[in-house]
This record gives sequence, structure tokens and C-alpha cells, in this order.
Amino acid sequence: MTRAAVISGLGGWLPPRVVTNDDLPAELDTSDRWIRTRTGIARRHFAARGSATSDLAVEAGRRALASFGEPNVDAVVLATTTPDRTCPGTAPEVATRLGLEDAAAFDVNAACAGFLYGLACATGLITTGVADRVLLIGAETYSSILDPLDRGTAPIFGDGAGAVVLRAGAPDEPGAIGPIDLGSDGTGAELIRADGGGSRQRLAEGRERDGEHYLTMAGREVFKHAVVRMAASCQTVLERAAVGVADIDRLVAHQANIRIVRQLADELGIERDRVVTNIDRVGNTAAASVPLALLHGVADGTLRPGQRTLLTAFGAGLTWGSTLLTWPDLVLRD
Ligand code: UT7
Repeated sequence: MTRAAVISGLGGWLPPRVVTNDDLPAELDTSDRWIRTRTGIARRHFAARGSATSDLAVEAGRRALASFGEPNVDAVVLATTTPDRTCPGTAPEVATRLGLEDAAAFDVNAACAGFLYGLACATGLITTGVADRVLLIGAETYSSILDPLDRGTAPIFGDGAGAVVLRAGAPDEPGAIGPIDLGSDGTGAELIRADGGGSRQRLAEGRERDGEHYLTMAGREVFKHAVVRMAASCQTVLERAAVGVADIDRLVAHQANIRIVRQLADELGIERDRVVTNIDRVGNTAAASVPLALLHGVADGTLRPGQRTLLTAFGAGLTWGSTLLTWPDLVLRD
């Protein structure tokens, strides 16, 4: 029988510090009204100084394992654009802190599409028999690369982590990951980037104070790509699964901007009441965005067992990915 990867646990964590739109620095020359109407964001969480992506990932991973009900997995895949450090990867430390001795552990950097790329990695590990259970975490500390005075990014991004446990199962089970579409276009690499500290733009001692490590984003251009790429990717998945858009109960898209999510839904012909969103509470949490939207959707009842659910994400790279599954019945644990 064909082996499938089945979502069987879900958890997430947000750092306690809440930053409302009104809490943002006055120098940004923005307003609560502008941010809400242009992005849908009302607040976001920022990690405390000294707190790193691994700290968020461990909290989310612990909750996903508790939801799964068993403490062990064979592999940890960590999707992040904001690892603790350039080397080594962050996943091995996360695995160890979760008590997962000897588990395979590696990072995936596909920016805001990282969770979809991570799902593909986890599915590959399971369907090829390399692993029977995989913990996939999307975790980000974007506050560490945000220029607090850039109004094109500072009000948009937030910190957080979301995680799922996937296990080997059957393709017709609820939670089984369906066809996956992934893609990239490096001609758009300049549109969202953080250069400083990489091998091309090395950081001289003390230079990080000049803000070279800050994220920059050509927002308007990225916006257009986001809608077009996610819509095409979703169509590919629907075609591969031979599923019509009328059969999609829920759309869970990367929470970059509520206007992007709505335009995407319109483009696909999915009514607004079938869209799961949490951007008002968390902002754009990049690789953590989709699993946190899943978690909040389950918690507030907008995502229920048995619903055929389309997942899609888009981000820097440019990168994008989509998949389809029937939402499983999961137990959430704090
Ligand atoms: O997660 C990875 C992928 N990321 C995305 O998909 C993000 C995509 N982009 C976006 O979500 C939006 O482009 C932003 C939210 C970043 C910006 O919204 P926008 O509607 O595209 O604004 P804009 O950059 O076209 O600027 C429109 C106006 C400008 O003023 P003028 O030139 O019309 O006078 C900006 O200066 O809004 C101004 N503006 C702001 N005003 C107050 C831009 N940012 C702000 C701000 N507060 N924060």
C-alpha cells in the first residue's frame, strides 16, 4: 500500500510581548488605521531580547508532540529564515532540547514558503521510509532583522512558531498530505532580502550597527507576485488532485496581508467565509504563518475535522508552495 505522511499533532507558541499598532515607534509616521486597512494587522508578538528562534521552536514543538500524544519522532525539520546563527543549523539544538536523541535534524530556508517546503521534506522522509514520524516546525524571530524605523516592514512582521507532527499512514486518511506543488524564481531575489552577514556581504566587526542585516522589501511588487504565484500553485495542486474549487472547504494561505489573502481567494473563486485568517493577531510570521493559522483556526472553530483544506504560501526567493488535505481530528494541548 502507498505510504502517506499524515498530520497527527499540532501546536504553536507566541512570545508573550504583544505590540499593538499604537505601540509602534512614533517615528514610523504610520497609524493604526493605515496598518489595519492596508494589511489587516492589529497587533503582533515580538520576542524578548536574548530570546532566539530555537526558544520559540522548542515551545511549539513541545506542544505539537503533546498533541500527537507520543514523545518521539525520527526527524525534526525546522523551517526558518531567522536561525539562531549561520552555523550550525538550529534544528539539532531544538531536537536535543525536546529530548529527541539521535533524531535527524536540519533547517529549511524557503522564507515565508518554508512550512510548505518543510511539508514536502517531511513527506519525502516518510514516504521513502527514512522516517516514520517527523516533527515539522516553522519558527521565526523577524524582530531580530527588522529595521524599527522602516514602515514598509516594521508594522508587517511578527515573531512566533507553529508545528505539526507527521506520521506514516494511508493516503485516504484525514490528515494525509495530498499533492504538493513547489516553485521558485530567483530573478526576484532582490525584492525581499537581508544581505548583511551572508558570504557576499560580509559583516565587518561592529558594522551590524549600520543596519546591513535588516530586511528590505519592495512591498507593492511582492504583493502582485504573491497573488499570482499562490493562485497558480493552488490551481496546480487542485488539478493534480482532480478536485474542483467548489470542493474546497477552507483556504489557509500565508498570512502576509489580508488584502493578498482576499485577492487570492477571489482569484480562485473561494468565498471569504471559507478563508481561515489570524493575521490581525500575529502579523506576518513568515515560516510560522501557516501552522499558526491552522492552530488558531482549530482553536476558534473556523477549521474543523473533515474539511478539505488548501494550504498555500509565498515568500522571499521568490519561493512558493501549496498542498491539499482533509483536516484531521486533533487534540490541542498547552
Ligand atoms: O511574506 C512574504 C511576502 N510579503 C508580502 O507578500 C508583502 C506584500 N506587500 C504588502 O503587503 C504591501 O505592499 C505593504 C503592506 C508592505 C505596503 O502596502 P501597499 O498598499 O502596497 O503600500 P505602498 O507601498 O504601495 O504605499 C502606498 C502609500 C505610500 O504613500 P504615497 O506614495 O501614496 O503617498 C506609502 O508611502 O502608503 C504609504 N505607506 C504607509 N503609510 C503609513 C507605506 N507604508 C506605510 C505605513 N504607514 N506603514
